[in-house]
Amino acid sequence: MVLSSRFVRQKLQEEEEPPNMASESGKLWGGRFVGAVDPIMEKFNSSISYDRHLWNVDVQGSKAYSRGLEKAGLLTKAEMQQILQGLDKVAEEWAQGTFKLHPNDEDIHTANERRLKELIGEAAGKLHTGRSRNDQVVTDLRLWMRQTCSKLSALLRVLIGTMVDRAEAERDVLFPGYTHLQRAQPIRWSHWILSHAVALTRDSERLLEVQKRINVLPLGSGAIAGNPLGVDRELLRAELNFGAITLNSMDATSERDFVAEFLFWASLCMTHLSRMAEDLILYGTKEFSFVQLSDAYSTGSSLMPQKKNPDSLELIRSKAGRVFGRCAGLLMTLKGLPSTYNKDLQEDKEAVFEVSDTMIAVLQVATGVISTLQIHRENMKQALSPDMLATDLAYYLVRKGMPFRQAHEASGKAVFMAETKGVALNLLSLQELQTISPLFSGDVSHVWDYSHSVEQYSALGGTAKSSVEWQIRQVRALLQAQEP
Ligand code: ARG
Repeated sequence: MVLSSRFVRQKLQEEEEPPNMASESGKLWGGRFVGAVDPIMEKFNSSISYDRHLWNVDVQGSKAYSRGLEKAGLLTKAEMQQILQGLDKVAEEWAQGTFKLHPNDEDIHTANERRLKELIGEAAGKLHTGRSRNDQVVTDLRLWMRQTCSKLSALLRVLIGTMVDRAEAERDVLFPGYTHLQRAQPIRWSHWILSHAVALTRDSERLLEVQKRINVLPLGSGAIAGNPLGVDRELLRAELNFGAITLNSMDATSERDFVAEFLFWASLCMTHLSRMAEDLILYGTKEFSFVQLSDAYSTGSSLMPQKKNPDSLELIRSKAGRVFGRCAGLLMTLKGLPSTYNKDLQEDKEAVFEVSDTMIAVLQVATGVISTLQIHRENMKQALSPDMLATDLAYYLVRKGMPFRQAHEASGKAVFMAETKGVALNLLSLQELQTISPLFSGDVSHVWDYSHSVEQYSALGGTAKSSVEWQIRQVRALLQAQEP
């Protein structure tokens, strides 16, 4: 059955409570309108269900703005005091959970100003002088994101620190390194941990960069053209502790680069975390059995009693998709918008809130997983096999003076010979190796030692112990430099 749109509308209206609130009253922009807004439109337009998260920064912004108005001679000292105290009361109500939303509260800015008026009367009507919700909302969002970025930065540094501690404690553990998911070369387990930690240090650095561009004050830009009443934006900047002020009011009210950058930061960070999660999921399978997730980060199966599933890691892997979606979604919203503010921009906030919540959860869970993970050293060692030393066999010949291309060929022949004879590479006799090259001699036996193998990779960045320790020092120094 096809429902007529009228029917759907009626249904929706019936579900609405309260029914049709008159829209001429209590609107910030009520003056020009004579008719009522359709309740469906009212709901569609409203952002209070999520932008209420901005209550605190909205109050902060308004307090700073009232000081700016007082300095510009647009508020008396007494009026400013009244507004400041009223705003404190508004904040108190939010903090205590007693703030009552009104059906006409379209967004957080409307709600706070409406309540302020109820609390202090007419003086509240002066607060919005020369201000627009266009510069107000973007000021609020920047304030909110600045706080959240500090929180995320701290959580990310805790995760990296946890990884580095683990890398230091387990630096003697060797296991197979993979390329194309095929056994490649023996490496230190710490080298693997650090490979992911180092990627995260770039995210940590990047977040600080993004935070710098978030920390710019748009307030005083008005709706589009600027502020005509002589508000001192430098005062507003200092009040709100921003690093700089925006340069152009048209740009300031409509650019959301800082949101896009934040969402991209989160996307890249999730790319790194989902790759790490994927490795750990594989390493935790019975087939690999290198690691075991603690019970605190696993769940069971409702059907198969033997199962312990790495849900924490799977969810980290999956959340990457959600975050990428938000990033792509915002870019899509921004593309082709005419300048300057358009209501499309209201969509930025849900993306920011959702991605922030996701990142806060993911970073904490990842830290928990890494700090409680058990490793099976014996299995890791057992998984190393002599064929993984074929490259080292070539290097052995290189050290005896053979050009690398020839050495690669000779080592390949040894691999083939071992395969044809059905023996492990290290079990070929010296005589057999000498049929491939006369450069092989008794000291070739050193090649078959995994610890000896990894220790060759001592150039900075490699898997030798000295280099791994160097990496640990470098990452720790980076983390320290990033401390606020
Ligand atoms: N709720 C709006 C937003 O989030 C506030 C700005 C409204 N501005 C306007 N011109 N209607 O973008």
